[in-house]
Amino acid sequence: MEIIKNEKLYEGKVKIIYKTNEQNILWIEYKNSVTAFNGLKKDEIVGKAILNNKISSLIFEKLNEKGIENHFIKELSDTEQLVKKVKIIPLEVVIRNIVAGSMSVRLGIEEGTILENPIIDFHYKNDELNDPLITLSHIKVLKILEDDQIKEIEKKSFKINEVLKDIFDIAHITLVDFKLEFGLDEKGEILLADEISPDTCRLWQVDTNERLDKDVYRKNIGDLLTAYEKVYEKLKSK
Ligand code: TMP
Ligand code: ASP
Repeated sequence: MEIIKNEKLYEGKVKIIYKTNEQNILWIEYKNSVTAFNGLKKDEIVGKAILNNKISSLIFEKLNEKGIENHFIKELSDTEQLVKKVKIIPLEVVIRNIVAGSMSVRLGIEEGTILENPIIDFHYKNDELNDPLITLSHIKVLKILEDDQIKEIEKKSFKINEVLKDIFDIAHITLVDFKLEFGLDEKGEILLADEISPDTCRLWQVDTNERLDKDVYRKNIGDLLTAYEKVYEKLKSK
């Protein structure tokens, strides 16, 4: 059946979500916006939407091939894709293989320090509160998830890390850390959703440690499009 784009459901910082004629399918359009520090730094970069859409689609397809179910259905155009509708769980699940970013600042550990084992941390997805780091007890106080759902998300996230690390390793990119979002589908099952791109991951080129992710924008240390294009070319050729 042909899927038709209907009214706008939600507009976020980098994506617009539309309903479709199918109740359980959403239409996503990537924008050229880039934001950092909870929207304090903001720009339009022509060409960014295409790269985010293409990279995220490619990664979700590769995850699917490796048995990691996710919301991605198909790419529609350079900047649009279809996804399964889920109710997003208000958590940003961060997995870290190497210390960087907020963890380095918060704990005073040098950026680049390799963690003996990957670690997970949770942020409460709430712009007004600035997405604070939260504990497992807080997740229960806020009634976001039950114990068994938290365990399931932890297990899935570490598994996704292993698969993603392989995908990036082959492309000579080090997966430093990344953020995942999960949702509940119509059956109440937990499904990987949102996007996986250089906006949501820290990606360092193997050997040189050249930054190939949004840190080039956050820290003004390079050209975002050049970095994202490198990621896309490296992933695509493998
Ligand atoms: P952090 O160093 O700011 O905690 O971020 C860790 C990783 O998670 C990094 O790859 C960026 C990603 N991330 C997002 O994509 N969105 C967010 O809101 C947060 C907090 C992190
Ligand atoms: N939530 C932040 C944002 O405004 C994350 C970041 O700084 O990348 O995009």
